[in-house]
Amino acid sequence: MARVAIVTGGTRGIGEAISLALQDMGIVVAANYASNEDGARDFAARTGIPAYRWDVGDYEACQTGCALVAAALGDVDIVVNNAGITRDGTILNMSYEDWKAVIDTNLGGCFNMTKAVFPGMRARKWGRIVNIGSINGQAGQYGQVNYAAAKSGIHGFTKALAQEGARVGVTVNAIAPGYIDTGMVAAVPADVLEKIVARIPTGRLGQASEIARGVAFLCAEESGFVTGSTLSINGGQHMY
Ligand code: CAA
Repeated sequence: MARVAIVTGGTRGIGEAISLALQDMGIVVAANYASNEDGARDFAARTGIPAYRWDVGDYEACQTGCALVAAALGDVDIVVNNAGITRDGTILNMSYEDWKAVIDTNLGGCFNMTKAVFPGMRARKWGRIVNIGSINGQAGQYGQVNYAAAKSGIHGFTKALAQEGARVGVTVNAIAPGYIDTGMVAAVPADVLEKIVARIPTGRLGQASEIARGVAFLCAEESGFVTGSTLSINGGQHMY
């Protein structure tokens, strides 16, 4: 039987590329999204991958959403915690709401989704959880205390959960993307982005498909001995 995967934030940007890469491997994919109804409808029509709307920052919504996917497609074997938002600003300008939204979505989402699927993976003795961290969680980034804290938290969450999953067949890994050519990075002011790209040894932004390639590797049947690792895919920008 084909494996079943949920990709959070899976209808656009890096998430869309991940959904497609897993589909290419013969995995049955459900793409979660938060708000972009039109985009999600287009994505589903284009790819044949069903899109499910819920907020990963909402604990109960994750329980309900994952149960819906399981009822429609089968037990969930793979979760890619990709959903993420930015609310950039220096600490002087960052509101409590900007802090909380980013922590709740980016880091809280990993907890909420894992709570919904981990018991089943454990019982069936097979699972793959891939968490999308960030170079900015490894190195920090001016104007991103919220995002860097959440992404750094994801890297710790990954290593801790990997220890709990190891003996029950559930691998837990992280990918730390650098600057990837998506809408999120396009929102960085052009002059700031130019300076960032100038510091990337490959001299260019990454492509979403280059992150998806790493996720596909970590989700493969043959990758059962890879757990607790962080795969940096960043064009050589931060070698950690
Ligand atoms: N180092 C030092 N100073 C910097 C700086 C840096 N890297 N970046 C900005 N500054 C300075 C500016 O020159 C400016 O100085 P002056 O006041 O003397 O002119 C000051 O900091 C900015 O002050 P503002 O009041 O304008 O600050 P703000 O609260 O509006 O924040 C900012 C501005 C949001 C930080 C903006 O500079 C920015 O968007 N920076 C990019 C942040 C970034 O890289 N985000 C990544 C998004 S993509 C992503 O997150 C995906 C991923 O995983 C990689």
